[in-house]
Amino acid sequence: MKIFAHRGVSGHYPENTLLAIQAALDCHVHGIEIDVYAHDGELIVIHDRQLTRTTNATGNIEDYSHAALLEFDAGQGQRIPTLWQVLQLISNQAVLNIELKGHDTAHLLITTLERAKVELGTDWSTLLISSFHHPMLQQIKQLQPTLAIGALTANIPLNYCQFASELAAISVHCDRAFVDTAMVEDAHLRGLKIYVYTVNDQREALRLQALGVDGIFCNYPAEAADWF
Ligand code: G3P
Ligand code: MG
Repeated sequence: MKIFAHRGVSGHYPENTLLAIQAALDCHVHGIEIDVYAHDGELIVIHDRQLTRTTNATGNIEDYSHAALLEFDAGQGQRIPTLWQVLQLISNQAVLNIELKGHDTAHLLITTLERAKVELGTDWSTLLISSFHHPMLQQIKQLQPTLAIGALTANIPLNYCQFASELAAISVHCDRAFVDTAMVEDAHLRGLKIYVYTVNDQREALRLQALGVDGIFCNYPAEAADWF
């Protein structure tokens, strides 16, 4: 069972911060999932468009300049990181699952990753790009076929994992509330891995293992390693 630290070790540290990501590296996870938005020509790492839940600011990210945004406290004195900072920190030590939030991030993502390949030595084989925005995933795959795609779904589609095959994804990322035998079998028949979010207790994790799920997104990855 592969374990992805969901928003870093977000069960113990402020989510989507360098502190939470470093903690994930320290427990040698298979992968780290982060959420990114395009903001002012840069990709920033945060889950909500609204700042209230995870920072000491109010309003939406687009209400602020990039400089102002990076001043806010994202918990325990952490700042909202940029994707660039995360790529620097991870430095190919784990799979990085970049979940694209919002709109129109395809071109910015690709230019950022091309630069990271040259300047940071980012190994693209360690990257997994996901989103609930499937046309955007399709655009990324068309622009850069070598980038691995993970197709997110919060439901069970009529044709099960066909959408993921159509996106030439390597994995389908499914909500734990819906994933079932039919979905897992369909993914595997198509040669897709199936990863499930967000799984924070052992009973659920073992149920999913019995279903044949290939990986979980978890806020407590160190604990999860002992569950299986
Ligand atoms: O990528 C898996 C999971 O993070 C998707 O949902 O809302 O936690 O970003 P969310
Ligand atoms: Mg996410």
